[in-house]
Amino acid sequence: MLVVSTLIIFSCQILIFKTQPEWVSIPGLGPGRIHNQESTTDVPPSSRGIPLIGETIQFMAAINYSSKGFYDFVQTRRLRYGNCFKTNIFGETHVFFSSIETAKVILRNDAGKFTKRYLSSIAQLVGDQSLLCASSPDHHKLIRGRLNNLFTTKSLSLFIKQFDELIISTLGGWEHHRGGTVVVLKEALKITFKAMCKMLMSLESGEEVEMMEKDVAEVCKAMLAFPLKLPWTRFYKGLQARKRIMETLEKIITLRRRGLEGCNEDFLQYLVQEDNRGFGDETLKLTDTEIKDNILTMIIAGQDTTASAITWMVKYLGENPEILDAVEREQQKLAEKTSTRTSFNLTLQDLNDMPYASKVVKESLRMASVVAWFPRLVLQDCEIEGYKIKKGWNVNIVAKSIHFDPMVYNDPNKFNPSRFDEHDSKPYSFLAFGMGERTCLGLNMAKAMMLVFLHRLITTYKWKVVDSDSSIEKRAMFSRLKSGCPIHVTRLPSPKDVKSA
Ligand code: HEM
Repeated sequence: MLVVSTLIIFSCQILIFKTQPEWVSIPGLGPGRIHNQESTTDVPPSSRGIPLIGETIQFMAAINYSSKGFYDFVQTRRLRYGNCFKTNIFGETHVFFSSIETAKVILRNDAGKFTKRYLSSIAQLVGDQSLLCASSPDHHKLIRGRLNNLFTTKSLSLFIKQFDELIISTLGGWEHHRGGTVVVLKEALKITFKAMCKMLMSLESGEEVEMMEKDVAEVCKAMLAFPLKLPWTRFYKGLQARKRIMETLEKIITLRRRGLEGCNEDFLQYLVQEDNRGFGDETLKLTDTEIKDNILTMIIAGQDTTASAITWMVKYLGENPEILDAVEREQQKLAEKTSTRTSFNLTLQDLNDMPYASKVVKESLRMASVVAWFPRLVLQDCEIEGYKIKKGWNVNIVAKSIHFDPMVYNDPNKFNPSRFDEHDSKPYSFLAFGMGERTCLGLNMAKAMMLVFLHRLITTYKWKVVDSDSSIEKRAMFSRLKSGCPIHVTRLPSPKDVKSA
């Protein structure tokens, strides 16, 4: 089962194989890196591994047994071959790149030579109309355009207020939790799920939300399972969970279209209203299936990633007391300011007034590299870094290697938020949210959640991490701390109490 699961984890990154060479040049690489059709360059360096199996076993071993997971596999080969190497995993050719120049070429994709495509089993779970699975440029553009309209400053401001209220009510009871010990990842997953449901469709509590939380977790688990549709398999259970989620969404959309659900200020309402207006062009309308698939996509894309990033941030701060002191000073000052206002809730402006905490967030995202690598399918033969790359191969940008490259970041293993004081950072050196045409849509929301969480944790509690294990969870879609980062909290007096004392 272990082997099967591991096969599937990597399958998530495996794209469909295509042949038919057509050598083309890739614009965007520096001088000496653009190559023409006459080029005689070679294939990237590689170790062949065992015939047919390639390096599948080594890859599986890294995912299953190394505390650094997939990154161990990449690092070993990087030391041997440099920033580009080729390998064969599960019968497919994969080339891994770890340079910012190549990240720029592949992620910008100016010449349309690359696309993102997941296995059909993933598409079955998130839905083939999901933005994550859209591989045709036109379909991707249409859906991304419509979803992008949702991420306005107005919606971000409303979201910050709602998220702050949620955090205050959740954190409130932490000191009574098992003698004041909470597992940050577990709590953060609950909080980010609630936040997504509220923002997307105003679902707040009750049976429907609890059911959906369980079902979304089933769908996520099934993404890493063997795609066998038998009643006892994880994949089958995931599909069943997806079906229930779709039914709930269908019900909500029907009520919204009939105007029977009162007045809601959420993403779903916006999508339904825009569809009713129709833009005068039927082709621009999103179908109900597109809306449902993408609501589910945003829950999945936003919940786990943000919860994981919050957890890593707490761990890094716990390990670096002098940085924690500095961020505490900044946040306490802000807390004193907000305590004198009529509205105690944090605003977008307050978040803009957290320069040091913002750097803590950025540095946490760099070091955590929650989405460690970005897979793309090569659509046409081309040359990158002087190597021939064939149509049908998989090219992977290893964001984590770039984030830990000493040529890109000085002393990369050190948690040092002040490194972002310098404004001359190299383009494509910070890839926590990807770059180019598939850049994360929710990046500002994710950063806002991290800042609000940080502010409330720091100003509500004195805390310390009680398990320093840095191992990552095995077979998880995103880089998650295996321990979940348990912390012990002790309540601080509020700024109002301090003033009146
Ligand atoms: C710390 C939290 C987050 C991290 C680290 C993260 C990271 C990423 C990355 C790296 C990608 C691009 C992957 C690629 O190019 O292959 C991506 C895409 C995406 N993210 Fe996020 N994300 C986070 C939070 C969110 C949130 C909160 C939402 C929504 C509310 C969201 C929605 C999306 C969507 C819809 C895409 C697909 C974009 C496309 O393909 O055009 N993400 N995310």
